[in-house]
Amino acid sequence: NKIGVIFDLDGVIVDTAKYHYLAWKELADDLGFEFTEKHNELLKGVSRVRSLEILLGIGNISISEEKKQEYLVSKNEEYLGYITKMGANEILPGASELLDALDNVGIKYVLGSASKNAPLILKQIGLYDRFAGIVDGNSVSKAKPDPEVFLIGAEKLNLTPKQCVVFEDAIAGIEAAKNANMISVGIGDENTLKEADYNFNNLTEVPSDFFEKLVTLN
Ligand code: G6P
Ligand code: MG
Repeated sequence: NKIGVIFDLDGVIVDTAKYHYLAWKELADDLGFEFTEKHNELLKGVSRVRSLEILLGIGNISISEEKKQEYLVSKNEEYLGYITKMGANEILPGASELLDALDNVGIKYVLGSASKNAPLILKQIGLYDRFAGIVDGNSVSKAKPDPEVFLIGAEKLNLTPKQCVVFEDAIAGIEAAKNANMISVGIGDENTLKEADYNFNNLTEVPSDFFEKLVTLN
């Protein structure tokens, strides 16, 4: 009776959505169309390439493959400008406490993120060494809702999918957890993440006996 935890990064441990938004908005501004925060919701949990395609779709713009590559690079440079200024003060409420609680009871956790910048962000906020493994956008070939990222996470934990608990803020992420046959925990709006097995508004709301109970249920 063992369990392990797989954490998404953006929207669960840190709020980088605002920086992604600013960087994508900069590109939309250059291309001459409006990109709202509501539009930005569509990009949560989605890979960088797919995000660009969605963005271009919003602006009704079609461009060459070459231009796309150029925009992917410039967007990421803009984004890096923001995340290289991040610090531990940007860890979302409850995240550090939750990792401490898991350490105390000896439950291992890994990262399962679509972001190629995940290692850098974890280093910026001082949590890099805490994880038993890191699966990020550099190590997967199929984006969420494909379960690949979480299945590799389960391997790193040396556990079966059913023994893994996934914390996610994105619809695509909850779907990926379901597709992987894992226990899913939605962090954020319950109505948006209604497919999740459990829902909390944020990590401070996770009860202290949550994992203990999961172990007995498993
Ligand atoms: C996370 C975020 C997405 C982002 C993706 C890729 O899943 O929620 O909004 O597009 O990572 O991030 P990257 O840092 O590789 O551009
Ligand atoms: Mg996320």
